[in-house]
Amino acid sequence: MHIKDFPLIPMQPEAPRIRTRLPGPKVKALTARDRRVTSPSYTRDYPLVVDRAIGSVITDPDGNLFLDMTAGIAVVASGHSHPYVLDAIRRQSERCLHMSGTDFYYESQIELAERLVKSAPMKGKNRIFFTNSGAESIEAALKLSRYHTGRQHVIAFIGAFHGRTYGAMSLGASKVIQSQGFKPLVPQISHVDYPNPYRPVGHEKNVTDHTMREIETVFKHKVSPDEVAAIFVEAIQGEGGYIVPPDDFLPRLRELCTTHGIMLVCDEVQSGMGRTGKMWGIEHSGVEPDMITSAKGIASGLPLGALIARQKIMDWPYGSHASTFGGNPVSCAASLATLDLLEAGLMRNAETVGDFLIKHLQNLAKEFDVIGDVRGRGLMAAIEFVQDRSSRHTFAEFRNGVVQECFHRGLLVLGCGESAIRFCPALTVSERQIETAITIMHEAIKAVQQRRQKGEAA
Ligand SMILES: Cc1ncc(COP(=O)(O)O)c(C=O)c1O
Repeated sequence: MHIKDFPLIPMQPEAPRIRTRLPGPKVKALTARDRRVTSPSYTRDYPLVVDRAIGSVITDPDGNLFLDMTAGIAVVASGHSHPYVLDAIRRQSERCLHMSGTDFYYESQIELAERLVKSAPMKGKNRIFFTNSGAESIEAALKLSRYHTGRQHVIAFIGAFHGRTYGAMSLGASKVIQSQGFKPLVPQISHVDYPNPYRPVGHEKNVTDHTMREIETVFKHKVSPDEVAAIFVEAIQGEGGYIVPPDDFLPRLRELCTTHGIMLVCDEVQSGMGRTGKMWGIEHSGVEPDMITSAKGIASGLPLGALIARQKIMDWPYGSHASTFGGNPVSCAASLATLDLLEAGLMRNAETVGDFLIKHLQNLAKEFDVIGDVRGRGLMAAIEFVQDRSSRHTFAEFRNGVVQECFHRGLLVLGCGESAIRFCPALTVSERQIETAITIMHEAIKAVQQRRQKGEAA
């Protein structure tokens, strides 16, 4: 079947529709079973159990319908269970489930490689290495940066999250709990402040000046720039709070990397695949990195990741790096279908509905002083809660209260950074669904305010 035989945005039931007290009886039983056997490290902030999902609507086993502004942590780019993606998965599954692209060839991987290297924000010839996840893509980028440059040191940013394997964890500096007890980390990594226009640090007026000075300090006191293999940067800092850097940041980072022969690695795991209204988040800056990493939205829910690098940089030899499952044929088929849908209009939807979302979040901020900042690009947007607008002190307790209130009203959102709530819905989300989400968010903020006025904890 052809893409034209499928709706770009599938029909979805009205949501939310909450029928039971939350959690309902079946959810209670399932979460109790889960708690007995799964790792206590999982971070479930509220008891959502998914029975089925379509687009931006999730049904739990008790028949409650939720409106999903999380997309499985920015993963289901084309919405939950898009029929066109399901059809591609079904057709590929009937032909071949797995053969390992490391040792053999299959057309879905070849075609996906051709399309993704063409989409990359680097002009000229590129190559791709397939993985299963964001962390693995980052590991591959770290290994390739060191291999290609023959240098060891790497610079990354405070607040960054790149994944949970040792290399990725060492590059990250998001929350202490993510590395506490797991040290020693991979050596030769320095962290500098990410330029956050809302929370300037240092004495410089321009937050980019501050970051560039920090890098110069590393060069002066720690390592010479010709020992630095790479700078790893998120085009928009994701887990760190959906922080959009100032316009001059990525161009200045590019210039610095070019001057010193340092690889500029852009982590597009969360900001890529059309989420910001462009294929890759870095495209908004006009900067060409040397490598990008991708995962999350790349296959609309199936595990897949990728490292894309300039051809002359991906020069590691036969046998030096591989992955059994990376680039699995079914994941590749889902990714090809996702690319078709992005091109058919979902990326445009991300841009227009994203603008609509940000406008409505700004309206919310006009009404509630507790919202200190609204930021984002496309469908990667956040509001930050503050104790008061002059001090800009974070207000995690309030944010956490709002997340819970939203859940109890049938709206699924996630936190990010110290006190922000992020909106990273499927790229199929409609303006109507955004309006519903904003109405619920409004009620939730009011409810937390009222509880606090009554002297209860948020
Ligand atoms: C920017 C970024 N990089 C890397 C990762 C790690 O991805 P994964 O969880 O697939 O390993 C994440 C996950 O949240 C991310 O947001």
